[in-house]
Amino acid sequence: MYVCICHAVTDRDIHQAVDTGASSVEMICDRLNVSTNCGQCLERAREVFDEAIAQGNTAMEATAMARKNQACPLPCYSDRRQVS
Ligand code: FES
Repeated sequence: MYVCICHAVTDRDIHQAVDTGASSVEMICDRLNVSTNCGQCLERAREVFDEAIAQGNTAMEATAMARKNQACPLPCYSDRRQVS
């Protein structure tokens, strides 16, 4: 869905910008020219940015949980003690 009509920026564009490192609404505006003409899109851009950050945090938490639940593939000191 279009967020910024003046510059044809979609919510997908904003999510992609966050995925590639945009960490503030100002960075979104700089990269995508959001809110640089009429400014009517700024509030919606903030909402989409917040959604993208929240989704990124959820994905990072899921990855961290998955890693935490995996056994370490490397032999560690405690494994060697059990073998010998
Ligand atoms: S709608 Fe984004 S600058 Fe006009």
